Amino acid sequence: MPALARLKAEIRTCTRCDALVRCRTQPVPGAGEAPAAIAFIGIAPGRFGGDRTGTPFSGDRSGKLLRTMISREGLGSVFITNLVRCNPRDEQGRNRDPDATEIANCREHLKAELAIVRPRVIACLGLMAWRELAGRELAFDPVHPKPVQSNGAMLFPMYHPAYVNRGAYSIRNYRRDFRRLARLVQDVIPRLRKGCSWNDVRGHSLE
Ligand code: URA
Repeated sequence: MPALARLKAEIRTCTRCDALVRCRTQPVPGAGEAPAAIAFIGIAPGRFGGDRTGTPFSGDRSGKLLRTMISREGLGSVFITNLVRCNPRDEQGRNRDPDATEIANCREHLKAELAIVRPRVIACLGLMAWRELAGRELAFDPVHPKPVQSNGAMLFPMYHPAYVNRGAYSIRNYRRDFRRLARLVQDVIPRLRKGCSWNDVRGHSLE
């Protein structure tokens, strides 16, 4: 079995987080091409999206916006995943952010996915993904993005699509940000032939 299929099968049987095992419908491994030029990293599968469909960023408004932007820019070679692979809910059954332990428990899965996908650019969708990959001391500024060069890849900060869907950021600016991402990919692909592995990404939280 290919490495990514093996990893997906392993993720689908994960029971590491008691609270998530109780509220999830299913674990949701990353999906897309491997290898891929770009990896998009969100937070966790949404209750009305990935938790239901089994595919990250699908079946809900966040997924629709992200996938529309990807196809609008012709970003064909992509892998889409999350910090955490199960849908976290609060006691009222609403989406909540994963906690630090849940992120730590799922880190091995993210590492393993990146090691197989070896992206040239990692688009961090929102502050949580940025902090996990770039570390806390680097400002999260998708409006004036400063991609961080690691040995084998560039980390690129972007707003999470849910932030745009809430009206907190304009679609027009989000389109511009995706155009910038597309340009960055064009620029770095010839230079970063190998793509990154987890050890190339030097965020504090990863050490
Ligand atoms: N769907 C995902 O897969 N991840 C998110 O962060 C939000 C919605």
